Amino acid sequence: MTYTAHYSVLKKECLDSMYADWENSNEEKLLFADLTFGGGGHSLAIVARDERANLISFDQDPDALANGRKLIEESGNLDRHHLVDSNFCHFGEVVKNNFQELVDECGGFSAILMDLGVSSHHFDEGNRGFSFRVDAPLDMRMDSDNDKIQTAKDIVNKYSELELEKIFKEFGEEKFSRRIAQRIAVDREKKPIETTFELAELIKQCYPAKLRYGRINPATKCFQALRIEVNRELHVLSEVIPQIIPLLKINGKICVISFHSLEDRIVKHEFKRLEKDNDDIICEVVTKKPILPSDQELDENPRSRSAKLRVIKRVEARKQKNKYAKFSTIK
Ligand SMILES: C[S@@+](CC[C@H](N)C(=O)[O-])C[C@H]1O[C@@H](n2cnc3c(N)ncnc32)[C@H](O)[C@@H]1O
Repeated sequence: MTYTAHYSVLKKECLDSMYADWENSNEEKLLFADLTFGGGGHSLAIVARDERANLISFDQDPDALANGRKLIEESGNLDRHHLVDSNFCHFGEVVKNNFQELVDECGGFSAILMDLGVSSHHFDEGNRGFSFRVDAPLDMRMDSDNDKIQTAKDIVNKYSELELEKIFKEFGEEKFSRRIAQRIAVDREKKPIETTFELAELIKQCYPAKLRYGRINPATKCFQALRIEVNRELHVLSEVIPQIIPLLKINGKICVISFHSLEDRIVKHEFKRLEKDNDDIICEVVTKKPILPSDQELDENPRSRSAKLRVIKRVEARKQKNKYAKFSTIK
């Protein structure tokens, strides 16, 4: 298996945000986490930027992990860079059971990164079933050696017509979700729908003829919806953010790159909720508007066009809003 090179989106912006309060600090050791190692571009750059940096990286994809182990060995930073095979929804538990000493030594995490979704490898490695451009079994599991996870084939052939319509509508924002779900329910009675080409062709037939051959393949939205359902992407995202906030040290940050509006909405609302919360952990949203890729990045990698980076920071105390501030210089 060769792991397809992955362009690390918003890399400079992420690293600058993650290191913002630490570059000139006098801490002897810094602790970071990258919950989505992928091709390792962000992770390796985090470790390379400062000799004090320790990093715990997570991924659930066996290809990313095998490639990652090699990359970390080659980097010569095995002592500072730990790679964990797990869904990031178990982050709190894994850290507590395996890295508590390191966390205590560093006083908590300086920054935690999430670069959501799948990597270029998932699309380019056709046999994983993520892409409608290559004929392959309908799988779409990131954690592809985990038999407990339902594949896209299981979902397409077992979910009720109503459930299918709901996921196509909610996770794919697909206009023809009802028609597609009805057609699946009819066709699978004759024979199970097993491959990416079978499903893509069925979806195409549900589109009005004049919309079948546009710039965007009609299967795009339903494939996205199935991928989100298979990997419970939105569910694990909402679960993990509140879990990692208490692990940050003061001035520690969470940086999240999202690629579609469903993810971005969760991140935005979750950050706002944490900022408003009046419990003992005080947070401030750093990015009132999300950070977007520069024109240069868009030229280099058009796939970054939908990326948005949002950052939240744990702070010691809420900023006092002084309503007399603007008069304070008047004598
Ligand atoms: C967009 S890629 C990350 C790319 C990476 N930042 C880079 O620079 O190469 C997302 C990676 O996160 C992994 N991933 C997505 N959701 C995950 C989850 N819930 N738990 C663990 N890994 C996850 C995927 O398997 C994929 O390898």
